[in-house]
Amino acid sequence: MTNIFKGRSFLAEKDFSAAEFEWLIDFSAHLKDLKKRNIPHRYLEGKNIALLFEKTSTRTRAAFTVAAVDLGAHPEYLGANDIQLGKKESTEDTAKVLGRMFDGIEFRGFSQDMVEDLATFSGVPVWNGLTDAWHPTQMLADFLTIKEEFGSLAGLTLVYCGDGRNNVANSLLVTGALLGVNVHIFSPKELFPEQSVLDLAQSFAAASGANILLTEDADQAVKGADVLYTDVWVSMGEEDKFQERISLLKNYQVNMELIKKADNDKLIFLHCLPAFHDTHTVYGKDVAEKFGIKEMEVTDEVFRSKYARHFEQAENRMHTIKAVMAVTLGDPFVPRV
Ligand code: CP
Ligand code: NVA
Repeated sequence: MTNIFKGRSFLAEKDFSAAEFEWLIDFSAHLKDLKKRNIPHRYLEGKNIALLFEKTSTRTRAAFTVAAVDLGAHPEYLGANDIQLGKKESTEDTAKVLGRMFDGIEFRGFSQDMVEDLATFSGVPVWNGLTDAWHPTQMLADFLTIKEEFGSLAGLTLVYCGDGRNNVANSLLVTGALLGVNVHIFSPKELFPEQSVLDLAQSFAAASGANILLTEDADQAVKGADVLYTDVWVSMGEEDKFQERISLLKNYQVNMELIKKADNDKLIFLHCLPAFHDTHTVYGKDVAEKFGIKEMEVTDEVFRSKYARHFEQAENRMHTIKAVMAVTLGDPFVPRV
């Protein structure tokens, strides 16, 4: 049977059907089980993988590296200051060179056009490790974590609190809509998602039956919530915006009051990480000194509470990224999805 994922890139959630996306989640769970039982799964023996990072990363870089090694491939990290890309060489030329040497390419950076150009010109599968627009590998980990918790996805309600127009919010909105998960965006109007993202999500929601809600009202937002999700108020590349975002988002923090409002014993809290829940970071300290707040998008209490699943979620980055690389580059058995 042909592997329908073979040779494809993983650039944005919209490029996959709901059945394909959910199959990738289930295949990730299978690879996770193999890893836990020490059963080898070296689908990419002898392959070479380039890891391009214009922006910094802990989880995504670590996940691609460990997953590649587990699959029998060699990962090569190429950081922003290591290569010519963008500064001395066009994306097209770099892609053509890397495509002749590597079997697959991961890219994390600013521009969605750049990751798409890499895919067009390299001729090998390209995996989006985050751009300003989307964070698709994060979505596989997030919805795997949710499925592990609740057993199934369709009909659940995910509430995203905070900056409603960043990459993670965009991806959650579209992926939730694709998979039949209701998505509530709890943000100030100034930070509601862009119309184009909303239109895309609405078109998927019409097919899946998911409900989409954008609201500034906390009670309305958390009604029926199964998952409360937040992300940083200031994303990579926006570091001059702390003051503006703190004043816009201080009432959109995930704290115990909001959790209580949701009134669901089974509720879980997710965060893609890294998180500002204390002052143990350079930015955290700086913000505390300048603006007098010690926690931003989530309180330390919630972060360490029984609701929290973000470290499971972080681990799942590795199993899900492994699944994407294995099926787009290797030959595992893939039934007709
Ligand atoms: N969640 C996530 O992408 O983390 P990193 O920025 O550490 O890769
Ligand atoms: N929105 C965040 C996500 C980090 C994983 C950022 O882009 O910095």
